[in-house]
Amino acid sequence: MGIIAVYPGSFDPVTLGHMDLIQRAAGLFDQVIVGVLINADKKSPLFSLEERVIMLKDACRDIPGVSVESFEGLLIDFVRSKRTIDPQNTSEEPDRVVIIRGLRELMDFDMELQMAQVNRIASRCIASREVDNENETGLEIETLFLPTDPKYSHVSSSVVREYGRYGVPLKEFVPENVLQAIKTKLNK
Ligand code: PNS
Repeated sequence: MGIIAVYPGSFDPVTLGHMDLIQRAAGLFDQVIVGVLINADKKSPLFSLEERVIMLKDACRDIPGVSVESFEGLLIDFVRSKRTIDPQNTSEEPDRVVIIRGLRELMDFDMELQMAQVNRIASRCIASREVDNENETGLEIETLFLPTDPKYSHVSSSVVREYGRYGVPLKEFVPENVLQAIKTKLNK
């Protein structure tokens, strides 16, 4: 049994803060799956889902154990789909999957806490219906928070999008490949 971490987000685009978190998570878990989706609450996207996935794959290509996928719908469904048993060895316990999220500042906390709590409750409800035993333990999907490195606490994708549109140099904010993609996209 291994522990897989799912790191979900809109990553429009991936920043150095996200990359720092992915690097650190790769040192903690057997596998890290970066799950990219369009967050309907976030208006004025800069990059398409496909472009975000390509940029993330490129930025993560040298980090062992990290893969990048897009998903639609509920996060807990995506996470549950990753809880697999090795078909060669059915006596093995399935992998455990956790969600990881970064906390940059206190302002993030309220929303993140609520999201972690509802994801935990909803995943338990779905799983206990499947096993038909609501007393079974370990059915919840847990969220673990990693504090953002203070060096990146001011960095966010929305700041990058805004500055990018005004041609501010973004070397301190995003990986090199994203810098190029922003220049191409915005002709800056
Ligand atoms: O990078 P973001 O935009 O802050 O990430 C937010 C994300 C993708 C983690 C969140 O919007 C999400 O999980 N969306 C999937 C839909 C879902 O599961 N909603 C239920 C939570 S109330």
